[in-house]
Amino acid sequence: MHGELDAVAELAGAIRSGERPQPARIVWVSRGPENETTRMPDVLDGGPVVLRRRREADVPKLVRAIELSLPELAQWFGWAQQEPNVVEQRRRTADGERAFDDGTDYEFLLIEDDDVVGGLRLNPSAAPDAAGIGYWVRSDRTGRGYATSATRAATTAAFEHLSHVERVYILMDQANLASVAVPTKLGFLLDREEDRPIEAPGHTGRGFIWVMTRDRWSPQS
Ligand SMILES: CC(C)(COP(=O)(O)OP(=O)(O)OC[C@H]1O[C@@H](n2cnc3c(N)ncnc32)[C@H](O)[C@@H]1OP(=O)(O)O)[C@@H](O)C(=O)NCCC(=O)NCCS
Repeated sequence: MHGELDAVAELAGAIRSGERPQPARIVWVSRGPENETTRMPDVLDGGPVVLRRRREADVPKLVRAIELSLPELAQWFGWAQQEPNVVEQRRRTADGERAFDDGTDYEFLLIEDDDVVGGLRLNPSAAPDAAGIGYWVRSDRTGRGYATSATRAATTAAFEHLSHVERVYILMDQANLASVAVPTKLGFLLDREEDRPIEAPGHTGRGFIWVMTRDRWSPQS
C-alpha cells in the first residue's frame, strides 16, 4: 500500500511539473484472452469534444491554446509559469508519441472543430492497479462541461482498454474548485487529502485525491 501511495504522489508531482510519470510501476494483469489489455484508441468520443492523441502536427495549435490560457494555467501548473516554447512542445510531443505507442502514458488533446481546446493525460501507472487523469481546458472554452466530458471518456477508456486498472485517480490543489467539480460531478469519491508542494500562485499546499473504482463506474455518470 505504501508503494502505491508513493506512486500516487509521484503522479501528483508529474502532473504538477508537466513531466511524464515514469512507467516503472506498471503491472499487466492477464485475465484470459477475452479480457486482456487492448490497444488504447487514438481517438475517444468526449461528447462536445473529441479526445485525439497528441501529434506533432498539433503543436502550433497547442502552443496557441496554452498562450491563450496562460493566466489561468499559471495559477495551477508549475510548467505554465512561462510562455510556451514551440521547440520544447515538439520535444515533449515526440516523447509522448513514443509513450503512447509503448502504452506507458497517453496524452490526448481536446479537439473542437479541428482546433485545440484543451489537454488530458491518462497515466496508466499511477499505482500498480490504478490510472491517473489530469486535464486543462482553453480559457475561452471553460464552463461548457468539456473537462467533465473528456474525463468521462478517459475513465471509460481506462477501464475498457487497460485490464490492470481497477481504480482511476484525479488529484488537484484544494483551492482549485473548478477542478474539484469535475470528479465530483462524475461520482468519484474522496480517497484522501495530502500535503503538496506549492508550485504555482493558486496552490495552498493541500491537495485532494479522488478515486473511481471499476465496480462503481458507469460510462453514463
Ligand atoms: C479546471 C478546468 C479543467 C475545468 O474545465 P471546464 O471545462 O470548465 O470544466 P466543466 O465545465 O466540465 O466543469 C467545471 C465545473 O466547475 C464549476 N466551477 C467553475 N468555477 C468554479 C468555482 N470557482 N467554484 C466552484 N465551482 C466552479 C463549474 O460551474 C462547473 O460545474 P457545473 O457544470 O456544475 O456548473 C478548467 O477551468 C481549467 O483548465 N483550469 C486551469 C487548469 C486547471 O486548473 N487544471 C486542473 C488542474 S488539477
